[in-house]
Amino acid sequence: MDIKVPEYVKGHNLIEGKSVLITAAAGAGIGFSAATKAVEEGCRAIVISDIHEGRLQASVEKLKTETGLQSVFGKVGNVAVEEDVQALIDFAVEKMDGVDILINNAGLGTSRLLVEMEDAEWNKVIDVTLNGTMRMTRYMMKVMQARGKGGVIVNNASVLGWRAQKEQAHYAAAKAGVMALTRCAALEAADFGVRINAVAPSIVLHPMLRKSASEELLAELEAAEAYGRAAEAWEVANVMMFLASDYSSYMTGEIVSCSSQRS
Ligand SMILES: NC(=O)c1ccc[n+]([C@@H]2O[C@H](COP(=O)([O-])OP(=O)(O)OC[C@H]3O[C@@H](n4cnc5c(N)ncnc54)[C@H](O)[C@@H]3O)[C@@H](O)[C@H]2O)c1
Repeated sequence: MDIKVPEYVKGHNLIEGKSVLITAAAGAGIGFSAATKAVEEGCRAIVISDIHEGRLQASVEKLKTETGLQSVFGKVGNVAVEEDVQALIDFAVEKMDGVDILINNAGLGTSRLLVEMEDAEWNKVIDVTLNGTMRMTRYMMKVMQARGKGGVIVNNASVLGWRAQKEQAHYAAAKAGVMALTRCAALEAADFGVRINAVAPSIVLHPMLRKSASEELLAELEAAEAYGRAAEAWEVANVMMFLASDYSSYMTGEIVSCSSQRS
């Protein structure tokens, strides 16, 4: 069945007055969409980060122009580098007088059969996708605990943390790790009032992804969905906003699938 894309869901002030930090938010996918949603849902200030400096500056300007919010700040950073992670979170704390919501969106994928995989490729995907999420979560937990005002962390996993797909052993292993990290960190963070959950999207098509995978594979993945289509990036961002808001106050350590195919 081909379930059409619904009308864009307008903001409902789900995170009114909150300060938000989002990694990997200068791309064409979920990160920038989540940043736009966060503003539409009433955040008072936002820091967006990315490894790509040029696109980040353009994204800051775009977000300001499209939403009218002036308290939008950009900070270049690589989640695979501990110094960048700490500098990013310190910057966000300083610019916004504390961080209420962190969205760990950064994740990296390639396609390779396992028998052809070199250690370097395996390690890079793990280091950005799993270790990067761990580094951001670890430092943010410390900072939120010291602040004493609670907080929320939303991680971006993938249904591949549950499902098998050829040429995706490294990425799937990393995302399964993100899921386990989310559950364990949530248990520890509950002690100081911080909730940690993850969204697990199936497929979101955007120009950058179209360049890295064959049309044939993408069509196959879309066909496997009960809706017969990929998700729009903002449909995943909506789930992130739910997890970032008080509407999910009794949820922590959960992995919420954003997919129309049962995992
Ligand atoms: N697109 C999908 O179909 C899909 C499906 C499931 C999960 N995801 C996950 O969603 C997240 C967002 O992916 P997306 O495809 O929507 O693209 P996106 O545009 O949200 O993210 C890509 C951005 O990540 C940045 N980036 C790459 N390496 C980085 C690093 N080391 N540090 C900081 N930033 C870095 C890139 O410069 C780019 O701007 C990822 O974690 C991805 O694994 C995507």
